Amino acid sequence: MNDRLTNGSIWKDSSGQPIHAHGGHMIFHDDYYYWYGEDRRDNIYVSCYRSKDLFNWEFRNHILTTSTPATPIRVRTNVKLMSDKGGKVNLERPKVLFNSITKKFVLWVHYENGEHYNDAACAIATSDFPDDHFVYHGSFNPYGYMSRDCTLFQDDDGTAYFISAARDNADLHIYRLQEDYLNVESLVGKLWQGEYREAPAVFKRNGKYYMLSSFCTGWEPNQGKYAMADTMDGPWGMLSDFGDETTYRTQPAFVLKRSEKEYLYFSDRWNGSDYFQSSYVVLPIEFNGDIPVLMHYSSLSLGEDSHLIHFER
Ligand code: GAL
Repeated sequence: MNDRLTNGSIWKDSSGQPIHAHGGHMIFHDDYYYWYGEDRRDNIYVSCYRSKDLFNWEFRNHILTTSTPATPIRVRTNVKLMSDKGGKVNLERPKVLFNSITKKFVLWVHYENGEHYNDAACAIATSDFPDDHFVYHGSFNPYGYMSRDCTLFQDDDGTAYFISAARDNADLHIYRLQEDYLNVESLVGKLWQGEYREAPAVFKRNGKYYMLSSFCTGWEPNQGKYAMADTMDGPWGMLSDFGDETTYRTQPAFVLKRSEKEYLYFSDRWNGSDYFQSSYVVLPIEFNGDIPVLMHYSSLSLGEDSHLIHFER
């Protein structure tokens, strides 16, 4: 049993192996948290872990690899999972939602062809299970736009949004998804033109929408910002500072809303010189009225009722 995690250290799964779920995402389904993220080892692209308490993580599967079966969908896509030279492509920042109409788990991810970074596409995969048997459906450019750092957000009524960096990262686009989450349905917002926002993460609190993001400095951390809106379609407010000038040496991965009172900022502490030494930092988002506040805590531990998380400075 693990009841403590140190921010910025290498976290291990229940069999003692480092957890590879970088730039990830999390959903809660049938009593488990499922954590999806980048796993760049060998022929792997995306791995999935699950936990009941956010501290003890069971490795489930490499859900996307170079040998994942690929079938096209109605959207015209490129279904290749290997580069033209036979190497791996890049699949970054995988995000997964459960679609309650189709009962499918739908994954969206940033795709590059493994040779350069100019494809700037998104890619989709689906499964009937949260942690196995994903089928790849290929990559495409939404409405022809570039699409790099990305996230998914599911609203209370099931409406889902894909948010991604466009125009060489200068602008951040919000797309509403079709009902089955397998294509974009409309481009509902072009945010902060020319401000170069990356690593978006969206959550909702008391009827307000919040978007966290970073500036564009590669693996190096920078000042995080947040913005607010009354609807996903906007208008979105101006960007305001979140955390310190390096966001405590992190970049947003996603926000987990555990309850109306508990919002957890999950982030990556990248190691640009040795990617595999990249680690995770989880911090509570505290609120001053409606204003989100991010303070630094060095570790987190499970409370006695194994439900409340305690953060220690
Ligand atoms: C970051 C981005 C990461 C990764 C990295 C590569 O800005 O958020 O997902 O693409 O650049 O340099």
